Amino acid sequence: MTKSEYEWNMSKSKEKKIVVANWKMNPSGIEEANEIFSAIKKSAKRAKNATVVVCPPFTYLHSAKKLYAKSNIALGAQDVFWQNSGPYTGEISPGMLKDSGAKYVIVGHSERRTLFDTDEIVCKKVGAAIRSGLVTVLCVGESARDGDGKYFQFLKEQILSSLKGLQKRHLEKLIIAYEPIWAIGKDAKNSILPRDLHEIVILIRKILSDHYKAAVASRVKILYGGSVAATNAAELLLQGNVDGFIVGRESLSKEGFDKMLGACL
Ligand code: 13P
Repeated sequence: MTKSEYEWNMSKSKEKKIVVANWKMNPSGIEEANEIFSAIKKSAKRAKNATVVVCPPFTYLHSAKKLYAKSNIALGAQDVFWQNSGPYTGEISPGMLKDSGAKYVIVGHSERRTLFDTDEIVCKKVGAAIRSGLVTVLCVGESARDGDGKYFQFLKEQILSSLKGLQKRHLEKLIIAYEPIWAIGKDAKNSILPRDLHEIVILIRKILSDHYKAAVASRVKILYGGSVAATNAAELLLQGNVDGFIVGRESLSKEGFDKMLGACL
């Protein structure tokens, strides 16, 4: 490792980590949601080295906004539409999210891509969300790994197609979440190995710096998602060189999330 790489690593390790709790379509009622909100509030108070972002279903945002009013927790949503208003039954605009207290939004999660969102739709959502001022967590990730490394090219295309039309200045509101589909959810056999994650982080920075400027690309935060828990968080952070996590199942477990946050310090 060269001296400047060492210095860069040291300064990065001191930066605040970002931990996004993606609740997906859980829990099934507001009472349980409020209990988990309160537990996360306590855990986040102790986690001085992390920015905690809670992304519940839309209908719980209002309640969380009240509960988190004087806390260090930020709120986010799990999806957004690209128009501001109009005849779009069932959709929610960036402005509506901001009004509900959201400062962040997840776009292009693989669970949405499987059901509804094409690359073109993801690109429209990313553009609208960023332009509205929401910090946008763009999710990317391959469904499986092949021996020839074709997934590197897949990731490159997925990232660049989502960022079409965005300029350097827009990257300030962008976070990229690498979530390999094979590592997500209870059926995942494994989380990623830290060295394989590090390789992806380097790849994502290279894609961004080839397309924009290196200095801008180096400031974009890169998160990892897929079976993150207290048992693997510390090594994924340190050896994987990510800026934080996007956490599914473990963000609904009061104890699990508390321990996981503790492991990030
Ligand atoms: P799990 O943490 O449950 O594997 O889910 C990851 C994820 O999809 C976060 O967005």
